[in-house]
This record gives sequence, C-alpha cells and structure tokens, in this order.
Amino acid sequence: MRKISIRISVTALFLVMAFMTQGFGQGLIHNVKGREYVSLNGHWNYIIDPYQMGYLDYRRKPFDERPDRKGGFYDNLTNLPKDRKAEYDFSFEPTMLIPGDWNSQDERLRFYEGTVWFKKDFVLHQKEGKRYFLHFGAVNYEANVYVNGKKAGVHRGGFTPFQYDVTELVNEGDNFVVVMADNTRKPNAIPTDNTDWWNYGGITREVLLLEVPESYILDYKVQLDKNDRELLKGYIQLDGKNRQQKVSLDIPELKLKKTFETDMSGRCEFSLPVKHVQYWSPEAPYLYTVNISSASDNITDRIGFRTVNTEGKDIYLNGRSVFLRGISIHDENPLTEGRFRSEGGMRMVLQWAKELGCNYVRLAHYTHNETMLRLADEIGLLVWAEIPVYWTISWENEATYRNAEHQLATAIERDKNRAGVIIWSVGNETPVTAARNDFMARLVEKTRNLDNTRLVAAALEVERDGYTVIVEDPLGEKLDLASFNEYGGWYWGKTEELPKYRFDIRYDKPVIISEFGAGALGGFHGDIQTIWTEEYQEDLYKKQLEMLDKIEGLRGMTPWILVDFKSPRRQHPVFQDFWNRKGLLTPNGEKKKAFHVLRKYYAEKSAEFTAK
Ligand code: GCU
Repeated sequence: MRKISIRISVTALFLVMAFMTQGFGQGLIHNVKGREYVSLNGHWNYIIDPYQMGYLDYRRKPFDERPDRKGGFYDNLTNLPKDRKAEYDFSFEPTMLIPGDWNSQDERLRFYEGTVWFKKDFVLHQKEGKRYFLHFGAVNYEANVYVNGKKAGVHRGGFTPFQYDVTELVNEGDNFVVVMADNTRKPNAIPTDNTDWWNYGGITREVLLLEVPESYILDYKVQLDKNDRELLKGYIQLDGKNRQQKVSLDIPELKLKKTFETDMSGRCEFSLPVKHVQYWSPEAPYLYTVNISSASDNITDRIGFRTVNTEGKDIYLNGRSVFLRGISIHDENPLTEGRFRSEGGMRMVLQWAKELGCNYVRLAHYTHNETMLRLADEIGLLVWAEIPVYWTISWENEATYRNAEHQLATAIERDKNRAGVIIWSVGNETPVTAARNDFMARLVEKTRNLDNTRLVAAALEVERDGYTVIVEDPLGEKLDLASFNEYGGWYWGKTEELPKYRFDIRYDKPVIISEFGAGALGGFHGDIQTIWTEEYQEDLYKKQLEMLDKIEGLRGMTPWILVDFKSPRRQHPVFQDFWNRKGLLTPNGEKKKAFHVLRKYYAEKSAEFTAK
C-alpha cells in the first residue's frame, strides 16, 4: 500500500484555522451605503404564484434543477422550451414599490402566504477591475435569486441582509434580476409558525448592486475596549486579491492616523491608546468620522465610542450608572400598515420615543432595518437588538439552530459598529425545557464569541405563585440581565391587584422589565374598570409603575409597546380589527392617556439618575 504523504503547508493550515476561529461570520461587505452602488430600489413587476408554477414543473420538479435549467419564471421568455408556451410575462404585470412588503401594497395580498415573483431590469456599465455584489437588506422569508436567468443563490431568514457575488453573472448594458419570495410560515423556521406580528412578505428592505475593487475592504470594527475607555480596539479585514498589504485608520477629530500591515488572510487587529474622547451617550450622541483605506479601496463610517458594563445590579454607560427609559418597537410604519420602507417613517417613530422621554428602545422581536440602528446612533437611543427566537421554536432541530445562529451572527456582523446597540437578545418568552436550555446556551456562547463588548439578554420565562412573580429561568444564569415580561393587570388578574404583587428575582443582576402593558382603543373612553378604554390602560400604567419601582435593582423597562401594530392574532372586530392595541399611540400617531403617565415617570427617573 503506497504511503500517501499529505503535505499541508503551515500557511494553508493557518488560513483555514484563521477563517474558522476568527468568527468571520457571514463574510458580508460591511457598511453597504458607504460603497459605490447602483440602487435597484423602485418599481418591480411581480407575479402572484400560489402553486409555484414558475419554479416547479407539472411533476413538482424544480425547473432550475433540470439539465437545461429552462422554463422557470426566472428565465427570458425567448428561452422557453417549445413545450411550455409563454404562460407568464412580467412586462404585462403590475409593479410594486421595493423595498416594501406585498401585504400593504396589493389588497389581494393582505393576508397572502405563499410565493410572489419579482423582476427588475437594470443597466450596468461595468468598470475594469471591479467586482459586483447583489445586496438585499432583507427578504421575508425565503428568497431564490436569479441574475440574467442564472441562479445567484437561496436565502432563508426574513430580517437579515445577504449578498451574492454576481461579477460573473452581470452583462455590460442590459441586465435583469428575478427574485422568488416565499413567506410561508414553517414550524422549523426562525421564527416558527406562530407570532404576534404580521407576516409581511417580500423584498422588505433595500436592494443594491455594490461595486468594489478587486482588492477591497470587506469588514472592520472600531470601538473602545470594554474595560478601558482610553483604548481603541478593533480590526480591518480585506478580501479579494492582494489581501496582505498596508491599510490605514484615520479619525481626524482624534488626531489619530495609523497604518497597519494585514496578514495572509487580509486581517489586521489594533489596540490604540486614545485621549480626550467625547464619549457617545443618548444625551450627547457624538459620532466620529472614521476613514479606513487600503491601496485600492476606502470607506468612511460614523461611529460613537462608548463602553457598557454591569456590576451587581447596576448598568454602567461610560462608567456612569444608567436607568434604561425604554419602549418596545416593531418594524412597522403604522401609517402604511407595512414594514418601514424609508428613513422618514423610522425617524418618525424614534422621535415619538424621544418625546416619551426615552433613552432606550427594544427593537422587537427580530433584526430591524440598518437605517433604524443608524438613526438611533444619530439621535441618541440605546438599543436592545433581538433575533426572532420567539415562543415555541423547534429546539431539537439542528437546522433550526443553524438558522438562528446564522441570523444572530449576521445581525452582530451588520450592527457591531453601532454605539446605540448595548444588548444582544437571543430570544423572547421561550418555554423552559432541557432542549431549549441547550439551544439558548449555544446562542449565548456564540454571541459572546462574536462580540464580548456588549450585554447578552433574553425575555426570560417567569413563574407565578399567587401574587409572587418568581424569576429563576435557568437561562438567566448565562445572561447579563434579569429581564422578563410581566402582564399583571392584563393577562394576569385585575389592575387593582397590582399593589399585592411581589417579585422574587433569583439573580443578582440588573432588572429590566422587557414588557408590560395593556390594550386600549384610542378614543374609547370610560371608567378604569372598563377594558379597552384609554382610562383602563392609563390606570394600569400608574399601578404598574408604582409596583415596579419598588423592585430592588430595577434598571430599566421597555413597556409593550410604542404604537398599535398589526397582528393576525387580534380578531375582535371593534376593539382590535387585526391590530394589537397595546400601543401608547394610535396608528395615526395620537397619544393615548397612558403615554403621559409613562412620560412623567421617565422625567422623574431621568432626574433621579442624573443626580447620582
Ligand atoms: C408577549 C409577546 C409580544 C406580544 C405581547 C402581547 O409578551 O412577547 O410579542 O405582542 O405579549 O400579547 O401583546
């Protein structure tokens, strides 16, 4: 038997190890709006396809797995085989505004769950020595993407960005991209098939064709050391050709300009003493201009420098104890009854939060639009960011875990430079079992491996023994916060019982109430005993805040929720009409009475913590 000697060069082994251990995550090109790009936002033609006629032949076999790969809706009509007369033609179809969910743009699709095809023609004048990446901010839920009739890839997960290198697929001049989007809920998906939010389908976030040099800056992180506010740490990661070269980091307002040499994998790490930093905070959201350049590429970002830590029951921002005056927010523009499509709607709801007296928001229950995170940095809001590991996930299914981990890693990769993000939440109200504990423990470990500069949390499960609320969810052991939802006076008993509640929190950690609240139909008035009145909600907020303020170590809250939102679980034809009415504002932005109760409490809390 001839001895086969396997010679693996040390370098190659190092490269493999480096790639595996450095948690490069998903290899996404970072800060896409800071690149050269062609926007593919705008009007796309679309075909409603409930039987996936455009993807499966009459024996339910995918067209794009056939030898000739012809026949699908992704193809040019001219390429159709003779046995398949043209039974579709995008050019005669209506158009939909992208980014934008389909539910709020076509009455036929308000409740639709299934497949819709989208097509966009575009002209590209290719430049010598450039690479082209097709970037999607998000497609809910599964996307099959084709460029000029050729498959670019498949993505699952409705709230995180993805990209394809389409350099070999694009033409000089005329091109077209086709997306098959399918928002069918599945028990093994992330989220599972049961959520208290609308299942908005389609290309819900921006589509950009990125243009980068052959050797380009893929990714970078720049932030203060978690335990030393005079030490700036991070990395720069190149990709493409000539990965080993000089790169520079330039922060003019800090009079800091340094040059580094990347290694074989294109990476350099730095740890730089800095003085006189203006720390980012909600009160003073100062963003530094950060320029990163290589021989052939450069990128500019705006980054706030701050530290966040916990010690005992305190949360420290830049070394000062803070109280998180928050509110929960869904990714939905109440005025259009759909996902946010542009900066305007996002700025509107974040201003409502600032008007409420917030310094903090819970972006529930999934990764929000990148623009939302950049606006939070700009106007000064701390953020609880979350992945949709929500309720009854398929804990035993490894593919489900991989999906959750991919969404988590992508969220961290995309938002790691956002100063406002201080908390990564790995889930919400997940029932305690051994399988769930294992699943969540893996997610927590992955989070800390990818980013040890932020706090890790979840909305924990609670037990009730009479009026005692017990917080001993084993997941809490692994987290930095004792955070949980409680619905005293709404799902749990009567409002007048609230003063009898006691909290038995088994963790010596800062306490965050990640949800409480009550429904009220804006404009419906009556006495405090009458459910759905603004007075009921107002009285519940008064009694809740009085009760919660007694909790030792209470360091924040995000009542549920800033504004009414659409939900397929809320059927009452008068009080709900498929709206969850726990908002402090109505869908057209009118403040309910409870809004003023919370704003008053936050003004007092702000004064209390400023005086410390
Ligand atoms: C739960 C859940 C929310 C839901 C809320 C409600 O706590 O986390 O997603 O909308 O309660 O019932 O209104």
